[in-house]
Amino acid sequence: MLKAIANEPLLPLAHKPIDRIRLREELLSARQRVTQSLDRNLADFGDKFPAETCVKGYYPLTDNVEWTTSFWTGQLWLAWEMTGDEKYRLAAEKQVRSFGLRIAGRLDTQTHDLGFLYTLSCVAAWRLTANHEARGFSLLAAEALLERYHQKAHIIQAWGNLSDPEQAGRMIIDCNMNLPLLYWASEQTGESRFADAARAHVLQAARYLIREDASTYHTYYMDTVTGEPRYGNTQQGYADDSCWSRGQAWGIYGFLLSYIYTGDKEMIELSKRLANYFLNRLPEDDVCHWDLALLGTDALRDSSSAAIAVCGLLELVKHLPATDPDREIYEERALRIMSSLTENYLAKPDEPCNGLLKHSVYHLASDKGVDECCSWGDYFYVEALVRITQSWKLYW
Ligand code: GLY
Repeated sequence: MLKAIANEPLLPLAHKPIDRIRLREELLSARQRVTQSLDRNLADFGDKFPAETCVKGYYPLTDNVEWTTSFWTGQLWLAWEMTGDEKYRLAAEKQVRSFGLRIAGRLDTQTHDLGFLYTLSCVAAWRLTANHEARGFSLLAAEALLERYHQKAHIIQAWGNLSDPEQAGRMIIDCNMNLPLLYWASEQTGESRFADAARAHVLQAARYLIREDASTYHTYYMDTVTGEPRYGNTQQGYADDSCWSRGQAWGIYGFLLSYIYTGDKEMIELSKRLANYFLNRLPEDDVCHWDLALLGTDALRDSSSAAIAVCGLLELVKHLPATDPDREIYEERALRIMSSLTENYLAKPDEPCNGLLKHSVYHLASDKGVDECCSWGDYFYVEALVRITQSWKLYW
């Protein structure tokens, strides 16, 4: 599999190394900005959840629907870890109960994003507080996710009802982040069927979603009857043959997460190759355009992809041997991106905005969340902040 995928060398940087002492000070002050913003939102959101993205700077409020509500819960768990303040734990636990009702009633659960939804809410609750109810909700979610596995095509269908002909057999690169829920369920139950499906899916993702130059398709269709590959295309990227930045970032982090659970060294190698492709296509301020093919244009940035990539790169560094020549470079590049996000993208306290990370793009073609804050951008910025400023164990 690896032989067919380019291993593009990282381009050298013209700049001198980042001042790590100064960055640490900036990040410690960012932690305060983040908790102040979370405190305001905690009061304003009440029992509701923020929608996927801001609209004109502010999150509309929703019930526990869609694929993104757990990014709010995840931020509360991170805030509890940063501060030890019980108000964050209590709020997160209340939301865990909402996730319990959601999975028990199968409310808006026909999606592979059950991984995002239950990992950052209920698996995190189990890992941090040994909450048994949360463990049970997570296992129910893993069962529902497993139902989306196509035996013949060996993939988990991303979107829609399983009988929807438009969506049948469609896998997407984002799903790599949903697989940890399945690996975790196997660890918890001793039943290999969850991890077997995750493992089969990630191998298909590696085979068909990654192109020869180490860029990625956003989505790929498999024939669910014959199991044969059909074709790749995009949903949110610039073009079918371009490289949607967020997909590449999900790939960097997601293949690595499969490495952590399976020990398959090809997975860490894929994460590196995708990372090199991503890092070689960043503009001057280190924050990617919304599609990597748009480097050199005035296309909008997607700060959320940058934040996801920072987390993926920092995790990658933890798993590379000290002798790996690129290890230091990945760390330096992650810190540079984080510094730029903090200086230029993190909302200032007096701005008319209740999100954290400005300038993300959800779906340009359908004019959704364009140049706004988004809930996953906010979550991954806070995850990155916690990773850099204290020791942290994965929720994934
Ligand atoms: N997983 C959907 C997105 O990244 O926009």
